[in-house]
Amino acid sequence: MEQQAVAVDYQAVLEQIAHDVSPLLGSGRPAEYIPALAGVDPARFGMAVADLQGNVYGVGDWRHPFSAQSITKVFTLALVLAADGDALWRRVGREPSGNPFNSLVQLEYENGIPRNPFINAGALVVTDALQTLTGDASSELLEFLREESGNKELAFDPEVAASEAGHGDRNAALAHFMASYGNIAGPVPALLDHYFWQCSITTSCADLTLAARFLARHGLRADGSRLLSRSQAKQINAVMLTCGTYDAAGEFAHRVGLPGKSGVGGGIVAVVPGRCTLCVWSPGLDAHGNSVAGVAALDRFTTLTGLSVF
Ligand code: DON
Repeated sequence: MEQQAVAVDYQAVLEQIAHDVSPLLGSGRPAEYIPALAGVDPARFGMAVADLQGNVYGVGDWRHPFSAQSITKVFTLALVLAADGDALWRRVGREPSGNPFNSLVQLEYENGIPRNPFINAGALVVTDALQTLTGDASSELLEFLREESGNKELAFDPEVAASEAGHGDRNAALAHFMASYGNIAGPVPALLDHYFWQCSITTSCADLTLAARFLARHGLRADGSRLLSRSQAKQINAVMLTCGTYDAAGEFAHRVGLPGKSGVGGGIVAVVPGRCTLCVWSPGLDAHGNSVAGVAALDRFTTLTGLSVF
């Protein structure tokens, strides 16, 4: 069942993948720097695929709620580009950082301009921009995710948000440092609150695979209206491919060959432009903060179906 299939039986592929990755379940460790995430069972696994029409296929824990964490960075980026076009790119770059997601080291050399929107520094700038544009960045994000997923129950997790805030010195340092270069417009404490709320949103593979469909639909939302131009959707997919899994983005592109964005809750969203979106969840993380079984599952998906961007 290797290679290019015109019509794909997503359900059969997902079941094959769940079988193939089962030896990896329990590998890696849940995020330990956020106490509220540390207790999640690393052996859980779920995966979902949504096609362009919104049909969803799933296996394992695909409806089980987990913390979206950095996956939300894709959606805040989309909302800012939709509202304000290219202005953001004067404040954030589009190059892989080659450094851990919470690293400070490049910011001073590069005058407070983060390498890309998916490392924490870049995501803080994006949230600051969304806050300036809308006045309530986290509610804007939550509303968008509810509309696109169709799940009106999606919510912040106050325990996770408080846990992040209680261990947020690194993010606070990044935000204050960028503010010293004039690259943060609003007050840093409010920015951090919005950033922590955003990371705390509880979702499932089913929710995220539906919510990300605008990236497979070249910028079109679930209701058919246009969120992004075709070119902007391409740009976000490109940045996901090159920067979405941090200092493992090269390895991810090599193994999976799709735009992808991970979060330390153990989720990864991936996109086959013009075809489908995927979300996989398994909380055991590797040293880069990416789900061990999640990357392996996406690797199997592209191998079994031939659906990659290459
Ligand atoms: O900023 C943080 O530390 C987290 N709330 C989000 C980090 C994250 O998910 C990075 N991803 N792999």
